[in-house]
Parts: sequence; C-alpha cells; structure tokens
Amino acid sequence: MKHYRNAFLLALTAVVVLGACSSELKDEEDLPGFPRVYGAHGAGYALMGSENFHAHDIRMNLGWDITGCQDCHNVDYSGGVTGQSCNASGCHVAADGGPEACYVCHGDSQTKAAYPQRYSSHATHLEGGMYSATTIACSDCHDLPANFEDPVHIDMETPGKAEVRLMNALASTQTMGTTGTPAYDAAAGTCANTYCHGNFTNGNNAAVAWKGDDQAACGSCHGQGAGNPLPGGTHIQNENCSGCHTGVIDENRRFIDKSLHVNGILNVFGEQRTDW
Ligand code: HEC
Ligand code: HEC
Ligand code: HEC
Ligand code: HEC
Ligand code: HEC
Repeated sequence: MKHYRNAFLLALTAVVVLGACSSELKDEEDLPGFPRVYGAHGAGYALMGSENFHAHDIRMNLGWDITGCQDCHNVDYSGGVTGQSCNASGCHVAADGGPEACYVCHGDSQTKAAYPQRYSSHATHLEGGMYSATTIACSDCHDLPANFEDPVHIDMETPGKAEVRLMNALASTQTMGTTGTPAYDAAAGTCANTYCHGNFTNGNNAAVAWKGDDQAACGSCHGQGAGNPLPGGTHIQNENCSGCHTGVIDENRRFIDKSLHVNGILNVFGEQRTDW
C-alpha cells in the first residue's frame, strides 16, 4: 500500500481534517458518549489528531473507497446497526451526501467549494481570474463523475492521482498559422499549446505549470515575458493599446470589460474578429 503514501494524499487529508467539523474533536472528552467502548476501529478513529483517524485509514489502506463503511453504518451513513451516524456527528451533512459530498475530500467543507484548494489554479479556472471572466468547467479538464461511486472517479490503478483530459473548446481555438492542439503533460504538470496561454498569432505559446506561481502575469501570454503585453512579430509597435483595442482596456491598461479578454475573439477598432 506504500504507493498511497504521498504528499498529495496527505494534503487532501489535511483539508478533510481541518475543515470537516463545526466543533473540533480533539480529546476523548469531546466525543459524545464518553467514556466509550472500542470494538470496530480502535481508539481515536473519530479524533482528528489521532494516527488512527478514519481519514488516514481511508487514504492509506482503502484507496479512498468509503463504500465499505455502508456495510455497518448503513447505505446513507445514518448509523445502521452501529448506532454511530456519520451525519449526526456534526462533521458530515446528510443533505449534501454525507461523507460522499464532493467537498469532503477535495474542497472546502466550510464554504462547500467542491474543488481542490491547494493551488490557486483550480479557483482561477473555475471562477475567472483578474484579467479574464472566462470560466472552465471540471468536465473540460476531467471526466466528471456523476457521483462518488461513478467508475470514472476513483481509479484503482493510480489512486489519488487525478486524470486530466483537456476537452475545452476555447483552448483549441485556432488563429492564422496556429493549430489548436492543447495538451497536458502529467509527468511535468504543465499545459502547452493552449490558445488561452498564447497559442495564437504573435502569442508566446507559454507552457504553464499547474502548480506554479504567477503563471499568467501580464506579458506572459503575449508581449515581453512578465511585463509589457505589447505583442511582437507582425503586431504594430505602438503601446497605446486602448486607442485601438477600444472597450477592452483603458489608458492605464486596466480592463474595462474583462469578459472581452481571453474569450476567443479579438476586439479591435470596435470590431469583433476571428480572422487574425
Ligand atoms: C464491520 C462493521 C463496521 C464497518 C465496516 C465500519 N464501521 Fe465504523 N463503527 C462500527 C461500530 C460497531 C462502531 C461503534 C463502536 C465502536 O466504536 O467500535 C463504529 C464507530 C465508528 C466511528 C466512531 C468511532 C469513535 O471512536 O467514536 C467512526 C468515525 C466510524 N465508525 C467510521 C467508519 C468509517 C469511516 C468506515 C469505513 C471506512 C467504517 N466506520 C466502517 C462498525 C463498522
Ligand atoms: C483547467 C483545467 C481544470 C479544471 C477546470 C479542473 N481541474 Fe482538477 N486538475 C487539473 C489539473 C491540471 C490537475 C493536476 C493533476 C496532476 O497532478 O497531474 C488537477 C487535479 C485535480 C485533483 C487532484 C488533487 C490535486 O489538487 O492535484 C482533483 C481531486 C481535481 N482536480 C478535481 C477537480 C474538480 C472537482 C473540478 C471542478 C470543480 C476540477 N478539478 C476542475 C485541471 C483542472
Ligand atoms: C471519499 C473521498 C472523495 C469524495 C467524497 C469525492 N471524491 Fe472526487 N476524487 C477523490 C480522489 C482521491 C480523487 C483522485 C483521483 C483518482 O484516484 O482518480 C478524486 C478525483 C476527482 C476528480 C478528478 C478526475 C479524476 O477522477 O481523476 C473529479 C472531477 C472529482 N473527483 C469529482 C468529484 C465529485 C463531483 C464528487 C462528488 C459527487 C467527488 N469527487 C467526491 C476523492 C473523493
Ligand atoms: C492568460 C493569458 C493572457 C494574459 C496573462 C494576458 N492576456 Fe491579453 N490576450 C490573451 C488572449 C488569448 C488574447 C486574444 C483575444 C481574446 O481571446 O480576447 C488577448 C488579447 C488582448 C488584447 C486585445 C483585445 C482583446 O481582444 O482582448 C489586449 C489589449 C490585451 N490582451 C491586453 C492584455 C493586458 C494589458 C494584459 C495584462 C494586464 C494581458 N492582456 C494579459 C491572453 C492573455
Ligand atoms: C494602432 C493600433 C493598435 C495598437 C496601439 C495596439 N494594437 Fe493590438 N492589434 C491591432 C490590430 C489591428 C490587431 C489585429 C492584427 C491583424 O489583423 O492580424 C491587433 C492584434 C492584437 C493581439 C492579437 C495578436 C496579434 O498580434 O495579432 C493582441 C494580443 C493585441 N493586439 C494586444 C495589444 C496590446 C496589449 C497593445 C498595447 C500594449 C496593443 N495591442 C496595441 C491594433 C493595435
């Protein structure tokens, strides 16, 4: 089972551990029904700080498969023969799916955001960023499971490792002289050949690291590295962007309407163009 023991899984558990309960269960005395008799799991199975905390067990020994818990705790995790309900514990919410709620393992239990929080990349793509309002759905990058048990979800060959498949139409947008062939390199953790990051006429075609910082500074997708966004190549060398790209940015290069930026359409002289 040693292949489950990697940093990614540890971090996932940290999210579960820190976010799961409204009241933190740290000491034996915090548990309902103290003192208690341990039978099924041993001491500390409900204690976040314990080595025997159930989240560790699920990650290290069970390859993330929690469906076996239903054998004793009931199919809806309401307790069954054990009398121990996951949902009445104050840690899991029945209406969200109990322990199967998407935010439990990769998200934030407080805000109920259902995507990984460790790097900013998920939030930026799902919610839009500083320079663009464009959003990308889970299903544009992953096979989205319909529920926890969906066979496309937890993959037993590489448990804990998300499979990435870029299926986003905007990322594949072609311009004059470029072909849209976006690709994710799982070993390197980088995206390449995406329209969004500069695979277009006079663009920089940047390879971006999913787990890196500052991967989309002004000037990185088009222009001079991190800094001046003026495209090179055949683009006119005139820095007064707002004079020609009207309605998109102002004289200080602040976005007037960021929904016009990184949307697959070039806005210039009040026109919307796809022929560039
Ligand atoms: C074979 C039956 C059985 C299975 C399978 C089972 N449990 Fe339990 N569980 C029990 C029983 C019985 C209790 C109550 C008495 C005890 O603590 O032993 C319990 C209690 C618990 C508690 C409270 C423990 C405490 O110290 O207060 C937690 C948390 C828990 N189970 C989680 C799980 C999880 C998570 C799974 C699946 C990974 C699971 N259980 C699978 C039988 C089971
Ligand atoms: C823009 C593409 C993109 C979108 C949109 C996206 N993901 Fe991801 N996701 C990735 C990449 C890239 C990784 C890193 C995979 C790796 O480690 O190689 C990843 C990793 C993950 C992981 C593994 C944990 C981690 O942080 O590495 C989970 C779980 C996950 N994504 C779930 C989701 C869910 C749920 C959504 C929607 C709410 C979503 N993703 C949306 C690209 C995306
Ligand atoms: C018990 C923990 C757990 C719960 C609950 C959970 N996931 Fe996951 N999820 C994982 C793990 C672990 C991975 C890493 C992927 C792997 O092994 O393929 C993952 C990966 C993903 C991915 C990335 C693509 C993939 O399958 O690799 C998506 C998307 C995703 N989950 C969506 C969801 C959705 C939607 C829900 C709620 C219906 C959900 N998850 C509930 C543990 C969980
Ligand atoms: C993540 C990559 C990326 C970054 C970072 C980026 N741009 Fe862009 N930019 C694009 C793409 C793609 C286009 C092509 C047109 C489109 O899809 O909107 C574009 C086009 C433009 C245009 C032409 C008008 C239009 O159609 O949108 C201006 C002006 C512009 N960018 C200014 C900026 C400025 C200023 C910054 C930094 C504050 C910046 N860009 C940062 C990707 C980026
Ligand atoms: C004098 C007018 C003018 C100015 C000033 C100008 N642009 Fe452009 N820009 C254009 C035109 C026209 C196109 C379309 C070129 C074509 O037809 O292929 C364009 C295209 C672009 C593109 C798409 C890639 C390309 O080179 O075709 C980007 C990105 C862009 N401009 C960004 C900027 C930024 C950022 C600035 C300011 C630093 C700026 N432009 C200043 C007229 C201008």
